[in-house]
Amino acid sequence: MANLRKFITFEGGEGTGKSTQSELLAGRLRAYGYEVVTTREPGGSPTAEYLRDIILSGKAKQFGAFAETTLFSAARIDHLRETIEPALKRDSWVICDRFLDSTRAYQGALGNLDPRVLKALERVVIGDMMPGLTFVLDLPPEEGLRRAQTRARGAAPDRFESEEIDYHKALRKAFLDIASKEPDRIAVIDGEATADRIADQVWSEVTRRFGIDA
Ligand code: TYD
Repeated sequence: MANLRKFITFEGGEGTGKSTQSELLAGRLRAYGYEVVTTREPGGSPTAEYLRDIILSGKAKQFGAFAETTLFSAARIDHLRETIEPALKRDSWVICDRFLDSTRAYQGALGNLDPRVLKALERVVIGDMMPGLTFVLDLPPEEGLRRAQTRARGAAPDRFESEEIDYHKALRKAFLDIASKEPDRIAVIDGEATADRIADQVWSEVTRRFGIDA
């Protein structure tokens, strides 16, 4: 198998199907006999899940993008230490629904966080623990928000879902910009296809890049 870190992240706007695809990919890897840990951000460890509730409640918004980013960062440090690194050490795969590219897109591109601050935080929080492969699921925001609302079944939108449509359009562009800068790590997938079709594309990228005999 190729010497890529077995750490795969899914990124994209709201309702793009990241969690569905995380589970489908995990299922395929498990069918090959691999151990797989699926996790998510913000969250993925008890402390980080606690911070998730605070962040998504919107209580931190009033303090600005920097304060919010420090909360995401604190959660990520704990998540890496408690969940991701131990799993990788025992040779498990880790599949994570959102990771650093969400911070780049939401807090960096959309929140106007100073790029130098963002870079410094990445260095401190992630160091060299970059994912081996990242999928950006790309979808028109109107469709993504419609899906997210159907899924929520009338529940109030969270802090980020309640932003205006222009925000979500800018978010889509931000993810595509991020992907274009790191084509070796990031694969963009058309999120408008059926879940099965997307899962097939994801699987073919994974098998090719990691050298799995499929
Ligand atoms: P979640 O309900 O997990 O959203 P989704 O189902 O779209 O993945 O909520 C996570 C929200 O947090 C989402 O709107 C994106 C946002 N977020 C950031 O702004 N920065 C980050 O670094 C991360 C990980 C998430």
